[in-house]
Amino acid sequence: MAPLFRIIICLLAAEVFADQTPAFDRSEVPSVTWPDWMSYLPDYLPLSSLAIPGTHDTMAFYGGNLAECQCWRLPNQYKAGIRFLDIRCRHYQDRLPIHHGISYQRTDFPMVLNDTVTFLMEHPMETVMMRVKEEYDPYQNTRSFYKSVDEAVKQVGEQWFLRTTRLPTLGEARGKIVILQDFSAGGEGPAFGPPYPGSMSISDAYQVNDDAVKWTEVLRHLNVAQNGDPERPFLTYTSGVHWLLYPPETLARKINPRVYEYLKGKAVGAKRSVGVVIMDFPGAELVREIILDNWK
Ligand SMILES: *[C@@H]1O[C@H](CO)[C@@H](O)[C@H](O)[C@H]1NC(C)=O
Repeated sequence: MAPLFRIIICLLAAEVFADQTPAFDRSEVPSVTWPDWMSYLPDYLPLSSLAIPGTHDTMAFYGGNLAECQCWRLPNQYKAGIRFLDIRCRHYQDRLPIHHGISYQRTDFPMVLNDTVTFLMEHPMETVMMRVKEEYDPYQNTRSFYKSVDEAVKQVGEQWFLRTTRLPTLGEARGKIVILQDFSAGGEGPAFGPPYPGSMSISDAYQVNDDAVKWTEVLRHLNVAQNGDPERPFLTYTSGVHWLLYPPETLARKINPRVYEYLKGKAVGAKRSVGVVIMDFPGAELVREIILDNWK
């Protein structure tokens, strides 16, 4: 093969398989960080009106290519600018280990809260929206999932949580965790936060047979968000899976760059932001581009 041709092939392969690109990242540390971006926005803004970068299955680091969705540890996700988390806990002997389906993720809900509070102590102008969902089969419990969450919340300190059932303004939420409650309170006590999905508009087409169809759906919902009520939360999951064609990483390599190009091309003067964008393996430049949407 002619050397020049060979070099071109290598460059193409490097682009397709690279671990760190602007929109997709499979390495451990984000290439750029923006740990205090919310401090530049005014208090009166409803949280629902903001463009917020999020991660799907935030703590899914182990279990093979069908289970793994992220590679930045939680403190690095926060530094990059991620402010929406998708936390899946199994209820196991009254504890809350993090799971993705059957795969145990070698950490638990109290550790997630610990990392989050540590971040909020250092960055008190930020807020974190945390979807909390019960995952996989419960096993040998003496109390409800609600009670186990309650215990973890009390252990880290209730002052770190904003317990409201409507989505607050940024000013009300600063320095706090807003739990989006994706489990039943079962009459055992007050809600931890707004119900998920509740009145949110959510696009989460995670069973993917064709990446072009998935992208069409993502784009459709980003447009719905931008024409929507600023008081209503819009959540768009760019993530998805097909057991053979699209492990989460493969799909992220195809979808994330399209989201990135779309946002870079978006003009200033939009009615409202794209809302919450929830991704697998986001690149730090993509996270940044979502944040910048707050000034368009
Ligand atoms: C997090 O865990 C460490 C180690 O156990 C502990 O020293 C620290 O106080 C905890 N932080 C919070 C905010 O709970």
